[in-house]
Order: sequence, then C-alpha cells, then structure tokens
Amino acid sequence: MTKDIKVFEDNPAVAQAFADFLVEFTSGRSKTTIALSGGSTPKLLFDILAKKYADKIDWQSIHFFWGDERCVAPEDSDSNFGMTKSLLFDHVNIDPEKVHRVLGENDPDIEAKRYGSLISEVCTEENGLPSVDLMILGMGDDGHTASIFPHQMELLSAPEICAVAEHPTSGQKRVTINGPTLNNSGTVAFLVTGAKKAEKVSRALNPMADHSDIPAAHITGREQHWFLDKGAASLLPS
Ligand code: 6PG
Repeated sequence: MTKDIKVFEDNPAVAQAFADFLVEFTSGRSKTTIALSGGSTPKLLFDILAKKYADKIDWQSIHFFWGDERCVAPEDSDSNFGMTKSLLFDHVNIDPEKVHRVLGENDPDIEAKRYGSLISEVCTEENGLPSVDLMILGMGDDGHTASIFPHQMELLSAPEICAVAEHPTSGQKRVTINGPTLNNSGTVAFLVTGAKKAEKVSRALNPMADHSDIPAAHITGREQHWFLDKGAASLLPS
C-alpha cells in the first residue's frame, strides 16, 4: 500500500485540493464507483464541487455509495444522503440511477444485508470482495471512520460487507461498510481537519504507535491519500 500525506492551510484548501484530485481520478473513466462519507468535513467539499466543478467532472459516469449512513429517513437532518443531495446532487448532472443510497428508513439488519449485496452487484470484485474504486473517509475525534467506532473494533475484521453499528453515545444505529471491504478499495482518501484530531492523526500515521483505539488507523486500500489541514497535522513530525 502506498500512502500519500498532504497538509493544507485550512478546511477550504483541503476541500479544493480534493476536488482537483477528484477531477484527475475520474477523468477518462467510463465508470467510477465512489463511496462518500458523512459528517461536517465533506460539506465544504460538496459546496465547492457544486459551485466550481459542475462542468469539470463527468458526473454521469459515477456510481455513488456511502461508507456509512445513519438509520434515518433521507429527509432527516442526520441523513448523509440528504446532506449530499442538498449540497451536491441537486446542483450537478448526476445520474439518479447511479445514486445508491442506504435505505436508512428500513430495518437496519435487513438493509445492511441488502446494501452489501448492492455494492457487490455494482462494484468490481477483487480478493472475493467488492472493490470500490474510491473510498472517501473522514475520521472522528475518537478515531472512528465510516461508522466503525472504538467500541466496535470487531467490525474492522467482520466478514460481511456491511453491518449495523451503533454510535457510542447516542446509540443511533448506522449501516457501515466493514473493514475488509473498506480495505479492499482501490484508493482510500481520508479528509481530516481540525486540531482536535491531531493526536489521533499522529498515532494513526505512525506505524509504531498504539492503534488499538483508532479504527481509522486500521484502514488500508491499495493506495491511500490523507488530505489534512494544519490543525489535524499539527502533531506530525515536521
Ligand atoms: C458520519 C461519517 C463519519 C465522519 C466522521 C468525521 O456519518 O458521521 O461518515 O465517519 O466521517 O465522524 O466527521 P467530521 O468530518 O464531522 O469530523
């Protein structure tokens, strides 16, 4: 696995840099499968993509998935799909048939199985698992990624493609892609900003450090890119 780490001034610069990376990644491809992340960091990215990249990317060629989704209806303010739709999909020429959202309004256990089968159906298979071309991930202050939280580290090795996870404090149920499929991605891109994440980032990017409480540190992918702002990178060796 190759690992590329880039540090930018602030969140807008991270979003701008990743938008340019996305242009490069998708150019010349007739089909790209991308799994989006939720949370606050991607919001700025989606806004920049909507405002400045509507005609720079062949949006019709992209199949969209989510690395995780809250088990809520799409209209719920917690919905990652709902956030993406209002900030991005409503402003660029995507193919609605290629937007594969988690049906957060359905029974979580049934949906986790359905979503795993859908990912297998659309993505190429490698090593016996679906391989998403580009897995976009964030990292929470607690080191979680997708919805694999420190109290559910077993999801990093769960054989099912997706599982039902639970937020450690709210108890909110989520459908998450599990570690083996996350790690089977062609390219993993972490977008991580904010000084509150600096300690976890510094340990996650140090192969000699303790990773036992940082799910994000266990994610590989054939190729890995970290897009960090100065705050998140502030404890990295210069
Ligand atoms: C989610 C995300 C989650 C997110 C991290 C970081 O559904 O909440 O997929 O994994 O990436 O919580 O979120 P921030 O970008 O808001 O810090």
